[in-house]
Amino acid sequence: MIDSEITLQDRKPLLSALSGKQPPQPPFWFMRQAGRYLPEYRDLRSKSGGFLDMVFSPDLACEITMQPLRRFDMDGAILFADILTIPYALDQSLEFVTGEGPKLDPVRCAADMSKLTEAFAEHRLKPVYETVSRVSAALAEEGFDDTALIGFCGAPWTVACYMVEGGSSRDFRHIKKWSQNDPEGFETLIECLVWISVIYLSGQIEAGAEAVQIFDSWAGILSHDEFETWVIEPTAKITAALKGKYPHIPVIGFPRNAGALYSGYIDRAGVDAVGLDQGVALADAAELQRRKPVQGNLDPALVMKGGSEMETQARRIIETLGGAPFVFNLGHGIDKETPVENVERLAGIIRKSGSQ
Ligand code: CP3
Repeated sequence: MIDSEITLQDRKPLLSALSGKQPPQPPFWFMRQAGRYLPEYRDLRSKSGGFLDMVFSPDLACEITMQPLRRFDMDGAILFADILTIPYALDQSLEFVTGEGPKLDPVRCAADMSKLTEAFAEHRLKPVYETVSRVSAALAEEGFDDTALIGFCGAPWTVACYMVEGGSSRDFRHIKKWSQNDPEGFETLIECLVWISVIYLSGQIEAGAEAVQIFDSWAGILSHDEFETWVIEPTAKITAALKGKYPHIPVIGFPRNAGALYSGYIDRAGVDAVGLDQGVALADAAELQRRKPVQGNLDPALVMKGGSEMETQARRIIETLGGAPFVFNLGHGIDKETPVENVERLAGIIRKSGSQ
């Protein structure tokens, strides 16, 4: 068993880099690689009932996961789903309003929480597990033998932001108020999310996910002490539980905009590799990389712009970070206005970088 796992890690460059080895050229994938910048995604989207219908339809979700690979042959296939499947499994009302993003019925006190915890139903997440197993089969069928399947969840803090604010927010007023005025009550929400995230990621791993990423998109709005309590500690609980069950599955943590706080995260969150946003200077990224493999961090705005600026910065990233375990990615998701040709060009640059 150990032998076959070692062979698999050696064959798949993404798994190899995440486990601290250095493949000849940097493996790559892009956050939001499956999405609205692709005409074939928009086409399926216009024919389907809505975003959540696509997420919970394993056939469609598998097809969407495969779409970017057929064009760009990434080293990682990110499961098509969303971080808000967890509030959905807690039976919190959720809809995606076109042009406005997610809308949820907000949870703002510990009393609201117990209702949700009791309502948790894992069967509501099973279509996502089914998507993972279909993608696993599709990768083999379509000859993507070196592509690793990445599962994911939102980190407790980030998922809580949406659950408490009731959607996207500019000032995060409600979650700050609750977490600061009633930290014990707020902790019941975070603990609930830790517990479900472990169930959810385990379900994805059992179905065939070979690595997982924990998206903490709103980690950057916290003070130093809050970051320790609401980002590092909950993430460390999730990674400890997963490592106990699946020691060979790499976990990537992505505490976006963490700035100076990346350093504590890398040491204490228990992740195997860290995703960096475009705010991290390459010299600092190289420092962090002495401790763990890093992933990132091309500015998505440069991919939208394309041309020589994108190319120069992509090459600079590879020159600085490509000499040690590294996964090329963007600093955040691909913007929906990004021309497909720019993504094509970027993939070409990364792929050629090993042979220069
Ligand atoms: O390609 C991939 O990366 C895989 C799929 C994926 C989606 N969302 C699909 C999606 C992943 C990994 C996510 C994660 C996610 N979802 C995050 C963390 C990363 C980040 O972007 O910070 C967050 C915060 C969400 C919550 C979410 N989902 C929001 C706020 C929105 C609306 C904003 C928007 O971009 O429209 C979504 C919708 C969403 N998730 C879309 C896609 C392809 C667009 C839906 C559509 O087609 O209308």
